Amino acid sequence: MKLFIDSGNLKDIEALCAIGIIDGVTTNPTLLAKEPGDYKENLKKICAIVQGPVSGEVISTEFDGMMREGHDIAALDEHMVVKLPLTRNGIKACKALSDEGIRVNVTLVFSAAQALLAAKAGATFVSPFVGRLDDIGQNGMELIREIVQMYDNYAFTTEVLVASCRNPIHVVDAAKMGANICTCPPALIDQLFNHPLTTSGLERFLKDWEKAYPSAK
Ligand code: G3P
Repeated sequence: MKLFIDSGNLKDIEALCAIGIIDGVTTNPTLLAKEPGDYKENLKKICAIVQGPVSGEVISTEFDGMMREGHDIAALDEHMVVKLPLTRNGIKACKALSDEGIRVNVTLVFSAAQALLAAKAGATFVSPFVGRLDDIGQNGMELIREIVQMYDNYAFTTEVLVASCRNPIHVVDAAKMGANICTCPPALIDQLFNHPLTTSGLERFLKDWEKAYPSAK
């Protein structure tokens, strides 16, 4: 399973990419609006850092505007992916841009039926928001299971990008279900590293070593 960072923060992206386990980045208008500087320049910098797919979202809700913005976003860098909302216009623009060879990530997906439309429109990625479904008392990960099964039935090539991940259980369940990608905020990626037994175990190893070889430090 690929791991993406869900952030527009250059420092966080740089620090995590330096570890060598990051495959891409997703942004949205909320995330980019938090960052200083020109958002297009920031997206270009993110592409240079990650050297993998970077999603940038359109703001327009009209087909013509989505196409115009989609072309602008795609022209920023070869790694850019155009993020479009799951609306009628979004699906129409997804089909048109995908037919031109531009990669599209269909976002704000909350049902299996919507995910089916995104695949039929040639989306490269589909982004179901699991955390926001959990927030309203629906099981977000159940939706991932449905989409993975549905895409497998017909060999759709659209990759399932699990978005709105809130905790390590979302990530592990996504991997168990065979989702292609999980996008996580930096704080969640930090959580994936942590286990109290790793911390206490390492402390003990180092203490025992220091006792035996006091000069080695
Ligand atoms: O980028 C889309 C998604 O990951 C947003 O997550 O936490 O705002 O629901 P969240």
